[in-house]
Amino acid sequence: MWKVWRRMTHAEDARDVKAHGSRIGLYEGTRPYLLCAEPDVIREVCIKKFDHFVDRMEPVIAARYWRKMLALLAGEEWKEVRRRLTPVFSSGKIRKMTALMGECADTLAKNFLKNVREKSAVVDLKEHYGAFTMDVIATCAFGIKIDSLSSPDDPFVENAKEVFSGPQSRSPLLLLLFVSKWIPRLMSGFFFTKAFTFFLNVGKSIAEKRKAEKNRERGDMIDLMLDAQDEEQKENEADPTKSTFFTDEVMIAQMVLFFLAGYDTTATTLTMATYYLALNPEAQDKALAEIEEKMALHGGINNETVNDCPYLDQVIQETLRLFPPGLRIERTCTKSIEIHGIRFEEGVRVGFPVYAIHHDPEFFEDPEEFRPERFAQSEKGLRHPMTFLPFGQGPRNCIGMRFAQVEIKVALCHVLSQLKISCSPQTQVPVEATTSPNMTFQPLNVVVEMKARN
Ligand code: HEM
Repeated sequence: MWKVWRRMTHAEDARDVKAHGSRIGLYEGTRPYLLCAEPDVIREVCIKKFDHFVDRMEPVIAARYWRKMLALLAGEEWKEVRRRLTPVFSSGKIRKMTALMGECADTLAKNFLKNVREKSAVVDLKEHYGAFTMDVIATCAFGIKIDSLSSPDDPFVENAKEVFSGPQSRSPLLLLLFVSKWIPRLMSGFFFTKAFTFFLNVGKSIAEKRKAEKNRERGDMIDLMLDAQDEEQKENEADPTKSTFFTDEVMIAQMVLFFLAGYDTTATTLTMATYYLALNPEAQDKALAEIEEKMALHGGINNETVNDCPYLDQVIQETLRLFPPGLRIERTCTKSIEIHGIRFEEGVRVGFPVYAIHHDPEFFEDPEEFRPERFAQSEKGLRHPMTFLPFGQGPRNCIGMRFAQVEIKVALCHVLSQLKISCSPQTQVPVEATTSPNMTFQPLNVVVEMKARN
């Protein structure tokens, strides 16, 4: 718990694995927990024996909408809601949302150029990319168009800041959540802040408006979730013994969850990819040459372009290896089982230290070096597939993975084609980083120099 509080889990996990080996038993408050860095065990738990490890940890917050978020649902309810949400993130549906992302990326590049022209050539990456990913979630999950960087007083922006950096997210009371499973129930009011209520209310009113309008042309997440509701309703009319899972409450909880799960993780990845490209001009030139070639071939930045940039993909994968925003993948054992000599009892939690695995020289040679070539097709096949875990693994992996990948590529295509990025005297190498109490990995003060390309 002390580690969580000191916010150095990434480095300490790596040190612990080095010092104590790949199987470490510990207690999280009163609950037994296995920290395990073995790719074969990861494959069994996340994929082959998934039926024994369907759940994540029990939701620490008891409030109604929290418990309905996909990331915290358990058992059958998780399976049903995941099944209904899967089509929302299919390639075809993301294709429609790419145009919405493109509008936000256009604003992103304009804001960088404005910063360079009117303020300074040195830009704070997280500030700009955080605004971009907020704009994307606002338009795709809430149907609201904003330019958050230029509208700091917009209630959406103000409340989002409160959720991610309000006093609750920094309180030592957070540690109490892990002491016993009853404490969280007493503390739910503590997290159910005004800002959360704001997002729930926005979600509710937009869902009601769309239902009343019966207009689903935008093709965003709200439209697609309303389609999922209709489908469930049809199936249940045909078979009245079936239960309804995808209620309005579930739908609104997912809108807020997509914002929580997609905003900071994606902004961090964009920040770090841009930082590594500033440090590695050759990789930047290669990525730019590819982007320019594919823009000419496909007529600008569109779905075809972003799906046809293999080197840019490698850059993003290498960024996620070096700097995975999700530091641990976790599951709870729901049916006892033995795996590779480890006896898992029901209720035991298991965590896979993503950062420690990504930085282990046994799996990645010279792990601290930025080398996108590691992810070339010919190299990938030589590694154990469970050593690269930025989006988790198996049926409970990140449902937003493809959405995030397209969003990142759209943004980088816009930025790299218009701006040259380099290190400034203020750029810190190596980057300073911290672990936030929700186990995400955060870079601090990442600044680079930018120059308009023409
Ligand atoms: C670079 C960006 C992102 C990273 C690195 C990331 C990473 C992760 C990781 C590591 C997990 C846990 C997977 C596991 O336990 O196996 C996860 C789960 C999840 N992510 Fe993401 N994520 C990103 C973007 C997004 C976006 C954009 C969305 C939604 C719009 C999203 C929605 C979710 C949800 C709903 C879950 C829970 C899935 C479930 O329990 O079934 N993520 N993500």
